[in-house]
Amino acid sequence: MHRIKGTTQVVGIFGNPIHHTASPKLHNSLYSKLNLDFVYIPLLVDPSQIETAVLSIKATTMRGVNVTVPFKEAVIPFLDDLHPLAEQVGAVNTIINSSGRLIGYNTDVEGFCMGVFEEWSLSLNGLSCVVLGAGGAAKAICYGLLKEGIGSLSIANRSLARAESLGSSLSSFSIPIQTYDLEDSSLIEELSSADIIINATSVGLKENDCPLQSMSWVRPEQYVCDIIYEPCETQFLSLAKDKGAKIMNGIPMLAGQACLAFSYFTGKNIPYTILKKELG
Ligand code: ATR
Repeated sequence: MHRIKGTTQVVGIFGNPIHHTASPKLHNSLYSKLNLDFVYIPLLVDPSQIETAVLSIKATTMRGVNVTVPFKEAVIPFLDDLHPLAEQVGAVNTIINSSGRLIGYNTDVEGFCMGVFEEWSLSLNGLSCVVLGAGGAAKAICYGLLKEGIGSLSIANRSLARAESLGSSLSSFSIPIQTYDLEDSSLIEELSSADIIINATSVGLKENDCPLQSMSWVRPEQYVCDIIYEPCETQFLSLAKDKGAKIMNGIPMLAGQACLAFSYFTGKNIPYTILKKELG
């Protein structure tokens, strides 16, 4: 049982909705196990009040917050400083109150890569990758892949214009980036020759649906990942598994980003494997 005292450091998560978040349970359980005088609370923020919500962090002694949908970009104008990676990605998922200065970080980028290394012992260097989706999550993953030195990247999205805009925002990395409409028939060739394919769309989250019309291209040598973790196996993953591919859901990315956020909040490093075990 968590004991909140006058000295307890307060951490939270801003989102809307927020009831589904796994983060309070995860962080509070680790605080108890490690005997850390911290508490982590869910905070439902009205979108019209996001500025007030962010400023309330520095008006108080709150240690910081995680930031989830739909505020990862919206919080930026109200921060005092951005970590270079958060600035590049244009999204913040962790805010730290550093003696009254609010610093924005993005732990999704490195969290995704940490999950890939830990689960698959896979070096991304030189690999050919396809990312499905062009929203905030896809953007963080593309940055992670590019930072790790992948050989080529294709981005496929329902709205081609959004894929193109993401592609051009990544042009400072000197590797070829192709963009596709999700329904483009030539995408199949890219998919079948890729080493790693990641679903970063929200398709499969609510309905038992697949972002691609066909999964006939899957080969057993391929690594197929979905950032969705609820359900724990989307149709996209189960079809890829049927074809013998190595699959991974969104839990490793969730664990990886939480590992990094935990260390920003508490100053303590926690091994990925211990944190992931908490997620069940
Ligand atoms: P997040 O921050 O979680 O990435 P987002 O920015 O809203 O959320 O992005 C959601 C992604 O899922 C987008 O790539 C979106 O495609 P569009 O850019 O065309 O909207 C994709 N997506 C959502 N619903 C979809 C659907 N029914 N079919 C295909 N793609 C879908």
